[in-house]
Amino acid sequence: MAVLVCVTGAGGFIGSWIVKLLLARGYAVRGTSRRADDPKNAHLWALDGAAERLTMVRVDLLDRDTLRAAFHGCDGVIHTASPMHDTPEEIIEPVITGTRNVVEVAADAGVRRVVLSSSIGTMYMNPHRDPDAPLNDSSWSDLEFCKRTKNWYCYAKTIAEQGAWELARARGLDLAVVIPVVTLGELLQPSMNTSTLHILKYLTGGARTYVNESQAYVHVRDAAEAHIRVLLAPNAGGRRYVCAERTLHRGELCRILAGLFPEYPIPTRCKDEVNPPKKGYKFTNQPLKDLGMKFTPVHEYLHEAVRSLQDKGFIRKPSDTKVLPSRSAPPQNSIVPMFMSKL
Ligand SMILES: NC(=O)c1ccc[n+]([C@@H]2O[C@H](COP(=O)([O-])OP(=O)(O)OC[C@H]3O[C@@H](n4cnc5c(N)ncnc54)[C@H](OP(=O)(O)O)[C@@H]3O)[C@@H](O)[C@H]2O)c1
Repeated sequence: MAVLVCVTGAGGFIGSWIVKLLLARGYAVRGTSRRADDPKNAHLWALDGAAERLTMVRVDLLDRDTLRAAFHGCDGVIHTASPMHDTPEEIIEPVITGTRNVVEVAADAGVRRVVLSSSIGTMYMNPHRDPDAPLNDSSWSDLEFCKRTKNWYCYAKTIAEQGAWELARARGLDLAVVIPVVTLGELLQPSMNTSTLHILKYLTGGARTYVNESQAYVHVRDAAEAHIRVLLAPNAGGRRYVCAERTLHRGELCRILAGLFPEYPIPTRCKDEVNPPKKGYKFTNQPLKDLGMKFTPVHEYLHEAVRSLQDKGFIRKPSDTKVLPSRSAPPQNSIVPMFMSKL
């Protein structure tokens, strides 16, 4: 019988890719959603292996009974379900209490390992951080700073992840955490997601200029692959894995997009023409490379993201898009000054 893995938020941007890759590896997947029969999850049934090895169940992260039913008999749990916005009344409970419930119930159920999707927002948002030191396992966002700046997503995710570690230690649960940065690439789900909105505004004319910020990016398939490798590698538990390919200044991101898709009204000017380009934080993705990860170069996932937006009708389809450069030839000048602003 196939080994069973539960994926919370299975129909989401990263969750859908995790389900796809698990099914492709022969695993049985129990996906969760707040509404298991929601038409927005219908795309999951079209995945190879879904008919034989996918089940979907309704889970309310605040209702432990629903989590108990979802985790029963599972070898692993990958917890991706989370709101992604800065409305405190709507985010704090599902993220903080929801994550605590996932860890408690997984420990009760004897799950072998839980992999939590955290966020780079739990690491870099700290005014006392040394900008020249790469983020590491002990880098945490400053909660007071998050509150003061109303970064409620980072605030909630930081408390949730810290709580998960504390609880996992107390319960003897094997926990590992994947820390994605801005994730882009092909959308499997029919609806728009938060991180894809990040580039949509540059394609629609919604942004006339770009901001003076730098952020780290990663391919959605690589983010999913990272969760699976971290779940499966015998010694991968007990640490935080930054899942990032590279950092780009927003100007460089726009230049790559414009090089691939010159038909769109992609901004060419920075909103801030006075200050030097802001740098991003430093990070290392070596721990994931040590698990065999190879990170897809940015021009590929930007290309796939835009194609996907065209295919799903979020943007018009120009007739003459450029051919994607070969994978081995990343665009020139793509290593840019680094700085991370909020997601
Ligand atoms: N995408 C990124 O750039 C990025 C970067 C860093 C970290 N992350 C983290 O990665 C995980 C997945 O992100 P994603 O981009 O795949 O997000 P997504 O597309 O929005 O999917 C997340 C899923 O979570 C569920 N969800 C949303 N609000 C919820 C709530 N209030 N209570 C319970 N479930 C809720 C939804 O499933 P149902 O509606 O079916 O219940 C949704 O499909 C999240 O934990 C996110 O914080 C993402």
